[in-house]
Amino acid sequence: MLGRPRLHLRETSSTNDRARELAGAGAPHGTLVTAATQSAGRGRQGRTWSAPPGHALLMSLVLRDPPSLLPLAAAVAVAGAAGEDARIKWPNDVLVVGRKVSGILAEGRPQEGWAVLGIGVNVAVRVEDLPPELHATAGTLGRSPDDLEPFLYELLGELDRALGLDQAALLDAWRARDALMGRAVRWTAGEGVARGIDGEGRLVVEVPGGGRTALDAGEVHLGAG
Ligand code: BTN
Repeated sequence: MLGRPRLHLRETSSTNDRARELAGAGAPHGTLVTAATQSAGRGRQGRTWSAPPGHALLMSLVLRDPPSLLPLAAAVAVAGAAGEDARIKWPNDVLVVGRKVSGILAEGRPQEGWAVLGIGVNVAVRVEDLPPELHATAGTLGRSPDDLEPFLYELLGELDRALGLDQAALLDAWRARDALMGRAVRWTAGEGVARGIDGEGRLVVEVPGGGRTALDAGEVHLGAG
């Protein structure tokens, strides 16, 4: 069962760090770490993750034998909990009205058969309380801090559902929320127009001249088109 046992901390460096320690010490599938605030929240590709205390869901789950498309499954689940308007910017940023309301950081030890799924959701964050450099791009669900716990339980249900989908159904669910389809994208080594994801969850891009390439999430940092 996802969410049990649960460790809730008033403050920690990063819930992913705590969950990784627990996973390494043998914690069972579904173990959950939450925190009211993090002093060193981590994002993808070396970025930091900031959230005002008590206004964001900050959580990490220990998962045993995780699926290869875990980051995509997590994005489908977060979007499901965030509502009908939520879209996914490849690979796993969840956007509402074009602004990022959630980030996902999956870290793991595949050889030991576990992953830690870290999720931050701006449930009740006021964008003006975030660092200024995020004001143009960050979003919020605009809910009350009292909604953090109900949102967590809704999300755990969505995660349970998304992790139970077979690969084809998961890819379809992801595609139904694709924020980049037909949009111009730019990355370190090129630019083009996004054409959806392939069977392995890579972003397919039509490049100038008409060819197509598939981008791998681990290697690419996407910029605005
Ligand atoms: C990203 O968009 O770059 C991913 C952000 C992931 C943030 C969450 S908050 C809870 C968990 N603990 C962390 O240190 N990071 C993840």
